[in-house]
Amino acid sequence: MKFFIDSADLKELRDLADTGLVDGVTTNPSLIAKSGRNMLDVIKEICAVVTGPVSAEVTATDHATMLAEGRKLAKLAPNVAVKVPLTPDGLKTCKALSNEGTKVNVTLCFSAAQAILAAKAGAAFISPFVGRLDDVGTDGMALIADICRIYAAYPAIKTEVLVASVRHPIHVVEAAKLGAHVATLPPNVLRQMYNHPLTDKGLAAFLADWQKTGQSILG
Ligand code: E4P
Repeated sequence: MKFFIDSADLKELRDLADTGLVDGVTTNPSLIAKSGRNMLDVIKEICAVVTGPVSAEVTATDHATMLAEGRKLAKLAPNVAVKVPLTPDGLKTCKALSNEGTKVNVTLCFSAAQAILAAKAGAAFISPFVGRLDDVGTDGMALIADICRIYAAYPAIKTEVLVASVRHPIHVVEAAKLGAHVATLPPNVLRQMYNHPLTDKGLAAFLADWQKTGQSILG
């Protein structure tokens, strides 16, 4: 499973990229707004921090303007993936950009029917939002299961399932069990994944016993 980081905070992204576990980044207009910075500058800088795909979202809602925005974003760096919303104009833009060789991430997916359309439009990634579905009392992970099953039934579909709106490590584990290709993690969720109290307790005991030996591996 690939890990993308869901953030436009350069400090966080540099810090997490240092772990060697980060395969890409996703942003959206809300994350760009939170960064307080110019979108084009931020995307360019993020693209230099990771070698994998960096999703940059269009903000227009009509096809012609989305296409122009997508082409401009794609020129920022070779690893930009243009993000478009799952609307008729968004999917038309997805098809056009994909035909030009640009990777497209179709976002705001909340149903399997929408995911089928995105695959037909040539999306490189489909982003189903698990957390926001859970928030309204619908099982977000059931949607991931449906999409993984449908895509697996058609080997010609190359669209990767990118689990978005992840809120906690259990979302990541459940998505991995279903074979989802990618999860985009808020920085705190990646950090939480390291944690287990038995790891801390076990390490403290090993170190206490080691200290008693008076040895040092490096001499
Ligand atoms: C990423 O591509 C999505 O925009 C993001 O995961 C949405 O997460 P949220 O529901 O926590 O805003």
